[in-house]
Amino acid sequence: MLVALSAVLNDLLSQVEEFVEDATRRIGEVSYAGLGELKSELFGKRSALNVLKKQLGELDETERKAAGQRLNEARGDVGEMLETRADQLEAAARAVRYEAERLDLTEYGETAALGHLHLVTQARDRLEDLFVGMGYEVAEGPEVETAWYNFEALNIPDWHPARGSFDTIFVELGGPEEVMLRSHTSPVQIRVMETTEPPIYIVAPGRTFRSDTADATHLPAFNQIEGLVIDRGITMGDLAGTIDEFVRGFFGTEVKSRLRPSYFPFTEPSAEFDISRPDGSWLELGGCGMVHPNVLRNCDIDPETWQGFAFGFGIDRLAVMRYALDDIRELVNNDVRFLRQF
Ligand code: PHE
Repeated sequence: MLVALSAVLNDLLSQVEEFVEDATRRIGEVSYAGLGELKSELFGKRSALNVLKKQLGELDETERKAAGQRLNEARGDVGEMLETRADQLEAAARAVRYEAERLDLTEYGETAALGHLHLVTQARDRLEDLFVGMGYEVAEGPEVETAWYNFEALNIPDWHPARGSFDTIFVELGGPEEVMLRSHTSPVQIRVMETTEPPIYIVAPGRTFRSDTADATHLPAFNQIEGLVIDRGITMGDLAGTIDEFVRGFFGTEVKSRLRPSYFPFTEPSAEFDISRPDGSWLELGGCGMVHPNVLRNCDIDPETWQGFAFGFGIDRLAVMRYALDDIRELVNNDVRFLRQF
């Protein structure tokens, strides 16, 4: 049964539709700044919605229920529209603000100087790259060592005169002369051989210490790089070839290397290696040799099956030669005018 709607209800419902239409248009047009005002106009005390709500009282109960429902729906829809629009406007406003507040850090790169790695770090990195390119792995060891690793396992017993030549800096720990700052990187050889099954191909760069007074060619804290190869059928020829390869890689193909007989307790035979200078003279770079059978035995490696070579040299000295510096102390003076050049 169709019930005729009262004129009051008809009027009220069309006003609700008008309200929705008007609100939709205004929400679409509102700016971020106008949001607050629009909200109170649409939903505040004096809003059209409120006026319509008061008119509900003029309807009978059934009509009031229907009209009230429509009014609530309209209110909900418009509220949602407003919220969605507010979210969009806020996001846009935030984007504008962020853009304005953005700090362009790259802008300063052109005016202020950029830092770079220290000369010695650059040399160390290049050396690592060169040897990694030849199939070596990079190993490390502690800077504080025991007499076993720094001397004994390297075939330097406590009566050995070579101990004196290292000018070792001892640490007050344990018995006398038992714990020390490592005086070379050779203890890393022992640590690697103790824990790794051959074949072994490693380089071990790191800080080393001797109680030298700093002068143009010495630093009490300096950097060495150690090389160690243990494999089957390794000869002195492999050692010479490896040194030649790295010297050319580091200094350039015109630079030659040579080995000169020498003595180290942990290698036999032992040699010192030099590099050629443009004027034809030779410059001493480091020590090397075939790993002494006693050293292999100390690490439980059978010298009948495995042979190898080792070498070690100063990275700081290498940097001094490569850049023709006249005083090694420049490396640690931290004078940026000097450091900046490299
Ligand atoms: N450890 C030696 C030194 O510091 C250098 C060296 C390393 C010599 C390996 C031979 C083999 O003087």
